[in-house]
Amino acid sequence: MTTKIDQDEIRKVIESVPMLSASATQLLQTTTDPDHDLIEIVRIVKTDATLTARVLKVVNSAAFGLINEITSLDRAISYLGERLIVGIAIGDCASQLFNKELKGYEGEHGDLWRHDLRTAIASREVVTQSNSTISPDLAFTAGLLHDIGKALISDYLHGTASAVLEKIENEEISDYLSAEEELIGFDHTRAVHELALVWKLPEAITEVIRFHHAPSEARDEFKELVYAVHLGDNIAMMGGCGTGADSMRYKLDNNYCQFMDLQPAALANVMLAVNDDFNKLERSFAEAGESN
Ligand SMILES: [Fe+2]
Ligand SMILES: [Fe+2]
Repeated sequence: MTTKIDQDEIRKVIESVPMLSASATQLLQTTTDPDHDLIEIVRIVKTDATLTARVLKVVNSAAFGLINEITSLDRAISYLGERLIVGIAIGDCASQLFNKELKGYEGEHGDLWRHDLRTAIASREVVTQSNSTISPDLAFTAGLLHDIGKALISDYLHGTASAVLEKIENEEISDYLSAEEELIGFDHTRAVHELALVWKLPEAITEVIRFHHAPSEARDEFKELVYAVHLGDNIAMMGGCGTGADSMRYKLDNNYCQFMDLQPAALANVMLAVNDDFNKLERSFAEAGESN
């Protein structure tokens, strides 16, 4: 038996969600501005002692295998790249959400973080290997946040997964998103408006969260980015990294081909690159105590 929820109920859930730190908010806003430079990123990180310590821990983790320890923040940031800095900042503030056991999806502790991290890497690879004009850093950050809504609605879906799978199997429901809507009157892409207000999310990121399962409905100026994350999300699930029962139970919009030039061989390269990078990044975050 499930309860229907609405925007008011979600607003209450979001009241209990941790705030992003001032530095994480500034980093999100700065990195989505195409005219920013690395100096601004360094300046923001320097104002936050906890984040500075985290960044140094990640860069010196065994996963990166550096011979000499990096002690300068400037060097650490240029080595890791800004997308990882944003990832560390968001992962740290919202670890409670990323690591939530997704009971409603029968997902395990840490599944959401792993799926989002893999989607982030895949989205970045998609834009890089298709020579897209979208910033790889923006694609990464958007991928990292795309499914955060699942942590907000998961509890309301408790005990529903096997019945949903059966309905999808029997073609009574088209996909998992429709199942969420039918069961609780709310799908995991719709909590974005409230969360965007609380977390001051940039428009490009909110558009990705809202339309990553329906990229054709995104506004034209964000469509290419939304399609990149849509594909990145599917690549993450195809690589066996989902969030539980819902994995691969969403529609794939093949119109991504209109926005990015990705031949089958390039797609295979994306999948290989994602595997390598994911293993390394997951280890480095875990060793640095990030999102655990
Ligand atoms: Fe999703
Ligand atoms: Fe996803």
